[in-house]
Order: sequence, then C-alpha cells, then structure tokens
Amino acid sequence: MAVEVGAKETTAEARRVPPTPVSASVPQIDLGSGSQLYERLGQVGEGTYGKVYKARNRETGQLVALKRIRMETERDGFPITAMREMKLLQSMCHENVLKLYEVMILKGSVYLVFEYMDYDLAGVLAHPKLQYDESHAKCLLRQLLEGLRYLHKKGVLHRDIKGSNLLLNKCGDLKLADFGLARLHRRGRNADYTNRVITLWYRPPELLLGETKYGPEVDVWGAGCIMLELLTGKAPFQGQDEISQLEQVYNTLGTPDTERWPGVVDLPWYHLVRPKEARPSAFRERYASLLSPAALELAEQLLSMNPAGRPSAEEALEHRYFSEKPLACSPASLPCIEGDWHEFESKQRNKRRHGAASTTNNAEARAVRAGTTASGRPSGSLSVESSQTSTAAKRSYDEVAAGLSPTTAGGDASAASPEAKRTAVRPYDASHGNTQAISVTMLDSSTAVDPH
Ligand SMILES: Nc1ncnc2c1ncn2[C@@H]1O[C@H](COP(=O)(O)OP(=O)(O)OP(=O)(O)O)[C@@H](O)[C@H]1O
Ligand SMILES: [Mg+2]
Repeated sequence: MAVEVGAKETTAEARRVPPTPVSASVPQIDLGSGSQLYERLGQVGEGTYGKVYKARNRETGQLVALKRIRMETERDGFPITAMREMKLLQSMCHENVLKLYEVMILKGSVYLVFEYMDYDLAGVLAHPKLQYDESHAKCLLRQLLEGLRYLHKKGVLHRDIKGSNLLLNKCGDLKLADFGLARLHRRGRNADYTNRVITLWYRPPELLLGETKYGPEVDVWGAGCIMLELLTGKAPFQGQDEISQLEQVYNTLGTPDTERWPGVVDLPWYHLVRPKEARPSAFRERYASLLSPAALELAEQLLSMNPAGRPSAEEALEHRYFSEKPLACSPASLPCIEGDWHEFESKQRNKRRHGAASTTNNAEARAVRAGTTASGRPSGSLSVESSQTSTAAKRSYDEVAAGLSPTTAGGDASAASPEAKRTAVRPYDASHGNTQAISVTMLDSSTAVDPH
C-alpha cells in the first residue's frame, strides 16, 4: 500500500510501507452498552496497565482511543496509575498534551477515552522508510518542549518521557501522553519521590544514583535524549540495567566530579557505583559531525549531568538552535505515513518479519522492563565497594536501591522499553547550519495522587 508522504511532500516513492496491521489478530472485546456508542477498529497499544484500542464514535464519526484499565491484576482496588492519569489530565488543556474526553465504565471495566493519535514517536522512528530531516526534528522537539513548559508551569512532572509516550497525529501535532507516573511537584517543597521512575534509557544520572528530591529537570534530561534520537536516529544511552545505563552515560558525558556537580558525592548510591577512573566527556567528539554547533550546544545543556545545569523547558525554547536555519517546519509540513504507526504496530511487524529472532528480543525486552537482565551486561567499569563482579554489583545496587528508595512502586512499571531503533546516522550537513470538558463518572479522585 502506498504511503501518503507528508501533507505537502509527494515525491517519496521510497516511502512505501506494507499495509497497516492495526486490526490483525485482535481478540474481540465486548464493550457492552458502550459498543453502541463506539465501534472498535483495532488495537494500537499494549501498555503496562492495559490495552489501547482505536475506535469510532458511531454518532459523531470521531476517532478515539480507548485505554482499557487492567483490573484483573489489581488486588488493592482501582489502580493508582490510572487515577493519577485521570486526575492530572482533567486539569490540563494544551495543544501539546493529550486530551482525555471522558471515562467510561462498562461491565466492571474502566476505559479512558482519549483523542485519537495516528502515530507515536517510537513507532515512526522505527519506521523502515520515514526519515525526518533537521527542520522536522526541530519542529518535534519544539512541540515536546512546549508541552513540558506547560506541564512544569502547572507543577506537573511527567516522569516517563520516551518515544512511545509522545503521540503524533496526521496534522503533525505532537502530544505528551501516558500520565500514569506523573505527579504534582511543589517547588521549594523538599518532598521525597521514588527514584525508580522513568524508562531506563531516558532516566537521568541523579535518579540512577539514588536521588529522591528532584524536579522538572528529570523530564528535561528525557527531552535531551529524544533530541539526539531525532537527530541521529538512535537513543544515546541504551543500558540493560541501572549500572550499564550509568556506564553508558559516563562513557559519553564523562564521569561526574564535584567541580561540575558539587552534590554528586552525597547522592545515596554514588559510592556504591563509583567510577574506577575519571573520564572526560566524549560528547563533542561523538556528536560534532552529526549535529550543528547550536544543536550540539543545546543537547549538551539538556544532558547536563548536574541537574542544576540543565535549562528549563522554557529556557531551552529560547536557545539559538530554534532561530538558526533550517527553521522548524510547521507541524502540517511534517511527513505523514498512511494508516497508523505506533510502537505496537512496529513491534507486530518486526515479529512477523523476524519470527523467532524477535521472540528472543522480546524476552530480553521484558527482562529489561523488569530490570532483571543479567545476560549481555557489559563488564563493569564502575567500581563497586571492594570490587565485586558486575552481577554482584547489580545485586548490591538493587539491595541498596530497595532499602533507600521511598517506594519502588513506580519502578518496574515504568522500566525500560528498549525498542529497536534505526541505527542509520545522518552526518550533519554544514551547509544547513549556516544558513474541554471531561466527564468522569463514579470515581472518587481525591486519592489520585499518592505521596510518591
Ligand atoms: N490517544 C491515543 N491515540 C493513539 N494511540 C495511543 C493513544 N494513547 C496511547 N496510545 C498507544 O498505546 C500505547 C500505550 O499507551 P500508554 O502509554 O498510555 O499505556 P501504558 O500502559 O502506560 O504504557 P507503557 O507502560 O508501555 O508506557 C502508546 O505507546 C501509544 O502507542
Ligand atoms: Mg506508555
């Protein structure tokens, strides 16, 4: 099936993709009386907390996403993550934040009804043909930062920035989604939060080192990772567990020191996973040929090891990168793919293509989600007190983490999604460089935000 390339771009014979596998092998679900209102069209997501379906409102024809909240595994009643998501989304209204239309309760199942988004960023970045150029990447990053600016102004931390939680529609709008780990944050209030949040690849070093007092800077780090992913096609730090994640960060950004990050030695796990030797940053060496000087500077700031050195989303939007040519294209000029393309469809496609191979990868992915992978862990260059092996290091780290973290509730639920990424890296071309109302029924949301 031909791909419709971009609202405005039509040349790309190259951008042909197989038919969208949205409704393939989706088990039938009974929506009870709701099925009279919504016609289910297919599955588009399988999250930690339930399945996401594409559906059409029979009366208005409007497309929606129905996120079914998994209740079977809940022993303690309604899941707190769903409560949080509802409570926070009710209070938000911004073009870069997903709209929650309503909450539907059918035969004991709860569905969140969202505006429908055709793609997610993890899906489109794994798309075999679609490639963003610099103006596209800039447009997407700007929308991400606009969304974060809004959230942070409202005192909300997202705490799970990653490609599959950044949704896109065919108009080119990018919206922040999945507020299951989000929480309210009061500046100046030294509250303790869990540090076992944020998918591993996007988790900032302070959380990996045990920090429990943090703020919007944790989302800004995620934006830095997404920026590099957009510009190079590859997530910059792809650890398999917390220790290898830290190693990857140190390999690129250098080891932390008290000059650049005065408080680092006081972080709970700093001494447990102390680097064996000091290393300088290799960031510029690694990325100078791929990014314009302004892009390089902004990415380096967003990925400042010291959280205090990161700009706010608002400051990042003021960076000269956004006024340098090529300028960000308009959302409507972003290339669009025919049909739907989320991480889910992308994984389904890989499964069909690679069969057994992808089964292995998925098993590994699940292990990584659970933070338990032992296989393939790189030999550690981080020393653990009394130079234990890497496995022992991981064990001690986990033991200490379990003891020190105020709660581990958010941890595994949010853990890594090491979706296979395009690895094609495009060199930086210097010539470019010069130049609502929500109805919620039957729910008492007063308990929606827990202390962590
Ligand atoms: N409004 C929507 N429109 C289209 N697709 C959506 C929508 N909301 C979610 N999805 C798809 O479903 C996937 C899972 O949704 P979501 O992230 O909200 O669930 P989750 O259970 O919290 O997932 P995870 O734990 O994997 O992050 C998303 O990555 C996205 O691809
Ligand atoms: Mg998600």
